[in-house]
Amino acid sequence: MDASVKRPVRSKRPSKTRDNLVYAVVWLACFAPLVWLAWRVFSDDLGANPIETLIRQIGVWGLRLLLVGLAVTPAARILRKPRLVRFRRTIGLFAFSYICLHLLTYIGVDLFFDWGQLVKDILKRPFITLGMLAFTLLIPLAVTSTNGWVLRLGRAAWQRLHWLIYLIVPLGVAHYYLLVKADHRPPLIYAAILTALMLWRFWDAFRRRAAGR
Ligand code: HEM
Repeated sequence: MDASVKRPVRSKRPSKTRDNLVYAVVWLACFAPLVWLAWRVFSDDLGANPIETLIRQIGVWGLRLLLVGLAVTPAARILRKPRLVRFRRTIGLFAFSYICLHLLTYIGVDLFFDWGQLVKDILKRPFITLGMLAFTLLIPLAVTSTNGWVLRLGRAAWQRLHWLIYLIVPLGVAHYYLLVKADHRPPLIYAAILTALMLWRFWDAFRRRAAGR
């Protein structure tokens, strides 16, 4: 073969189409639980206490998405797929939307917008106090999730603000643990996943500092 004939070099850059496809999959995966829940509402398939089931299901999906959001960076580093971090914001915003809906269902469908009762619940029921605290801390993260806010705050300050997530998710897990009356295994499983993700973070930060990065 003539060595002077150059073979076309195949670009290693991921194509825009593939990125868009992954984005669509992430979006659909985040949206699917809501569609499934809406289907269960309309087909009257929420059991004996539909309101409680609905509030709980939306809440648990909010918590799962918060944890998936936390798992994106470790997954990107371990799998050596740095572009995965692009989907962190979408997952985080979906988590926030689920938690807003969780709160709204509670206030609207359970309390019939009785704001006085909400205040009493926040003051008297520790699991509501923790849930509300977690929700309040999530607001600045959701508001500053745009590129404009990253520029306005500066990347370092923006990243520091987003460390709040390491307070928010434990609060969400504690909220779950406190409201469970009998079987504490489910919240403890979420607590174990959270602990593993946080340990990975500490280890990664330590390793990067040691390497001077
Ligand atoms: C980051 C914020 C929050 C997260 C991650 C979260 C998550 C959860 C989870 C996982 C459950 C239990 C699901 C199950 O039993 O399968 C739950 C239940 C519940 N949450 Fe939240 N929640 C949050 C905030 C809130 C807020 C702000 C309120 C109201 C002010 C609230 C009110 C409730 C109520 C009333 C229940 C059902 C309790 C029961 O049925 O006895 N949550 N939440």
